[in-house]
Amino acid sequence: MADGVTLVDAQELQDLMMNKFIAAGLKKEHAEETARHLTYADACGIHSHGTVRVAYYAERIAKGGVNLDPQITFEKTGTSTGIVHGDNGMGQYVCNRGLDYAIEMAKDTGLAAVGVEKTGHSGMLSYYVKRAAEENLVALAMCQSDPMVVPFGGSENYFGTNPIAFSAPRSSGEALVFDMATTVQAWGKVLDARSKDRAIPDTWAVDGDGNPTTNPHAVRGLLPIAGPKGYGLMMLVDVMAGSMLGLPFGKHVSSMYADLTQKRNLGQFYILMDPKKFTDLKAFKERVQQMTEELHQMPPAKGFDQVYLPGERSQIRRKEAMANGIEVATEIYDYLKSDTVHFDKYDGQGAFAE
Ligand code: NAI
Repeated sequence: MADGVTLVDAQELQDLMMNKFIAAGLKKEHAEETARHLTYADACGIHSHGTVRVAYYAERIAKGGVNLDPQITFEKTGTSTGIVHGDNGMGQYVCNRGLDYAIEMAKDTGLAAVGVEKTGHSGMLSYYVKRAAEENLVALAMCQSDPMVVPFGGSENYFGTNPIAFSAPRSSGEALVFDMATTVQAWGKVLDARSKDRAIPDTWAVDGDGNPTTNPHAVRGLLPIAGPKGYGLMMLVDVMAGSMLGLPFGKHVSSMYADLTQKRNLGQFYILMDPKKFTDLKAFKERVQQMTEELHQMPPAKGFDQVYLPGERSQIRRKEAMANGIEVATEIYDYLKSDTVHFDKYDGQGAFAE
């Protein structure tokens, strides 16, 4: 195991995080849901969306940037459409409640196009689409995040890392789950590299002069995936999860670390589909299964050990982590065990806070 990393039991980690959020002011139910989500992310090896966020969340909760008693309501706007008003509650809690409404609608009508307006940072999107696939639905999810990406050909940050995820059920094994930021890497991966003081590849981000950098502390702008194509996808996310929900878009989206006393007003969007409205469910799941098996059977290219499915390596890591412990930066583990609620260090720091 790498230096500065400790293996922590999943339940212990979840309880420590929950207690930290409760100490910051969050209700137990909201704290527990958030801690469960972050533990899942860390167990999957997506450390960008796990414990690395706790001190920041705790500071925002303590300073009023999260509604501690949100009145979450569902406004049905059509047969298969609706808006969840999140009232700026804790993102993971709001977005899971929003998903509950969307799942119910998709099962009822075959389709749910549901926007969640005024939420906080929602974390790892695969958590949500996986839940939908477990209900035998095909799911798409996307959300806004703070503007820290240089658009293709541009010199200033404009869009967020605006992730997109999809899932589909299959006849055996785990649901098929794909989940990506529309940037080469999620900002949280840079945060994770910062917390472990590890260099990043020079393809992820640029420094304050717009030059590629390997120093995670020097990052001042992230790069879209595949140039203009990623740029187009992050635009799509902002149109659907921002403009269509009447929320700020692009550079007007609130910044994670700008003012922790202010609510985030972010948007998330779900499109859930019931495959039974298109085909026989059992046959559909078998076809998805067949596709994944054919991919597994393909001889790997030079330098690869096999063709993996999206999300597959995360699930392998998760099984290992649930059995042997989750990798956590020791510094963060020490903080989680301490009486310190937060470090009062993020407020007013801007998107690229140390
Ligand atoms: P990533 O680059 O780690 O993975 C992207 C996708 O590629 C995943 O589905 C992964 O399973 C797949 N993949 C990776 N290596 C593979 C391989 N060798 N073979 C087959 N598939 C492979 O993900 P990224 O872009 O760094 O995003 C990390 C997380 O950050 C996601 O969960 C995303 O939802 C979250 N995020 C959340 C934001 C928010 O504001 N809520 C903002 C941005 C990202």
